[in-house]
Amino acid sequence: MAQQFCTPAMIATPLLLTAILAVVSANPLGRRTMVVHEKRNAVPSGFVQSGSVPASKEITLRIALTNTDITGLEKTMYEISDPANALYGQHLTPEQVAEFVKPTAEGLAAVTEWLSENDISPKSASNAGDLLQITIPASKADELLSTKFSTFKHVESGVESIRTLAYSVPASLKPHIQFVHPTIAFTAPLRGSPGVTAINTKRALGQEKRKDPVEERYPASCATVVTPACLQAFYGIPTAKATSSANNVLGVAGYVEQFANQADLQRFLGALRPDLVNTTFLQNSGGEAVLDIEYTVGLAGGVPVTFISVGEDNNDGVMGAIDIVTSLLGETDEARPTVLTISYGFNEEDLTIALSRGVCQAYMQLGAVGTSVLFASGDVFVPAAPSGCPFITSVGGSAGLPPQVAANFSSGGFSNYFTVPYYQANDVRTYVASIGEQYAGLYNTTGRGYPDIAAQAESVEIAWKGNFTLVEGTSAASPVSASIFALVNDKLIAAGRPVLGFLNPFLYSAAGRAAFTDVTYGTNPGCNTDGFSASTGWDPVTGLGTPNYQQLLTAVGLDHRSH
Ligand SMILES: *[C@@H]1O[C@H](CO)[C@@H](O)[C@H](O)[C@H]1NC(C)=O
Ligand SMILES: *[C@@H]1O[C@H](CO)[C@@H](O)[C@H](O)[C@H]1NC(C)=O
Ligand SMILES: *[C@@H]1O[C@H](CO)[C@@H](O)[C@H](O)[C@H]1NC(C)=O
Ligand SMILES: *[C@@H]1O[C@H](CO)[C@@H](O)[C@H](O)[C@H]1NC(C)=O
Repeated sequence: MAQQFCTPAMIATPLLLTAILAVVSANPLGRRTMVVHEKRNAVPSGFVQSGSVPASKEITLRIALTNTDITGLEKTMYEISDPANALYGQHLTPEQVAEFVKPTAEGLAAVTEWLSENDISPKSASNAGDLLQITIPASKADELLSTKFSTFKHVESGVESIRTLAYSVPASLKPHIQFVHPTIAFTAPLRGSPGVTAINTKRALGQEKRKDPVEERYPASCATVVTPACLQAFYGIPTAKATSSANNVLGVAGYVEQFANQADLQRFLGALRPDLVNTTFLQNSGGEAVLDIEYTVGLAGGVPVTFISVGEDNNDGVMGAIDIVTSLLGETDEARPTVLTISYGFNEEDLTIALSRGVCQAYMQLGAVGTSVLFASGDVFVPAAPSGCPFITSVGGSAGLPPQVAANFSSGGFSNYFTVPYYQANDVRTYVASIGEQYAGLYNTTGRGYPDIAAQAESVEIAWKGNFTLVEGTSAASPVSASIFALVNDKLIAAGRPVLGFLNPFLYSAAGRAAFTDVTYGTNPGCNTDGFSASTGWDPVTGLGTPNYQQLLTAVGLDHRSH
């Protein structure tokens, strides 16, 4: 269920960006006229102001500079992602992307001069140089941004972070700076994959004898315990291993605390994918996420899987998310994932509009170089950012034997920050018209609707800490879908074709949507409402429906019967 149901869109306007330009002050050096750049009216719910910051405490800030031509990149990205366009599949190089996103020479010079006046030398934190990083004492940060940083406590977890409620920049620099972070964006601390709820941990599921799914289309056990064999039967996923592994990496982004290990993976494969025993995954830094790893390695047989953990150093998932993109853009074409699945998110209104755009534009860059980015849409009361970003594919949850129904926790709704993109405009209009006055005023009828698609999110069996257990959450649906697209990419590569890249214009095309099984039953109740309903066609519970691998091959023009 979308967050806006709980805090009606009409009152959920945490930011006043331009209305307060009148608040002007001079910075201590007296040389610059300062104007408020971003402001929050109050401490967001769930946080309390908890104290002051020692003057000498070093804090690290990122300054996002205005990009040279972000609308040009958006236009190009849509062209190369739209099967109807002559440029379809002609993914850009990271260098071509950098030409669009690099800061303007004027902006970079002006901001660098301002920092230099304050004896600060920034370092670049992105490939294109549009993100500057500075580390300075809190007292200096207060002066630089005409603000007063303090500590805020996230009540539920007790975790403290240094933030402020408003900050200023020199008036002449306002057009050159998108945002400074962390300042007024408040995010709850990251906890593994939110929405993964382990249930039924006492069952020794691994011992059960399973029927061969070839004998029976949907083994009855799949109604209560979902294994890779069930998903193969549900979604037409092949058991044969991928063959183009040299150029096809499936990336899994997660957090360190969602702990698992190679032993669990081997236990999982031994019980449920004996043909894949001893397959491992690459780890580009310290952690593993059990569900995501088991349902990528164990479903996309033969596709190399890389686990990418988000920067924990600064304990900030937002910059961690941008850092992942920066690091992937810096990879070689061979090492960069063709599909990336991410099972965490934020609360849209906790981020600012500027920061949400910054994160979304990072995913746009990845899409432009040919990486399909899939996000779990979130579960009830779980954040809806970046699902609102139009440049990612948001995956909701389905459940039961086919024909599947919506998982009742599958988060869906409409963004308050991003307008509806062209590729789904008709679908959103049709859905909004179909529900008439129901929930009028509680959701944004002109926002980007999510999720885009759905996949299994209930009763998914994993090996975890030495035992077999069932989990639920859209965090299962995203790796399952990512595996299917990675296997389609395998066939495209074998046929000498470009990989899928940013998916949505293809998914919403006539050919693309034909590869999805519409989910038409179920709701996502929450916040004292019955929630939205799944319905014929796109809906904000299960999107276009569940993917079918064989039909996706047909949709991309590969005749699977010849394989
Ligand atoms: C696995 O489950 C069994 C039976 O419930 C339990 O005795 C054992 O401690 C569990 N192992 C781990 C590593 O949690
Ligand atoms: C997996 O690796 C182990 C240890 O190297 C080896 O003994 C075993 O034969 C391997 N199994 C398969 C199916 O390759
Ligand atoms: C969701 O469905 C489960 C059973 O699948 C049920 O126990 C739970 O109460 C439902 N939740 C809501 C909010 O309806
Ligand atoms: C609804 O979405 C539009 C487009 O993204 C946005 O401009 C508008 O501010 C949103 N309305 C509210 C009340 O947040």
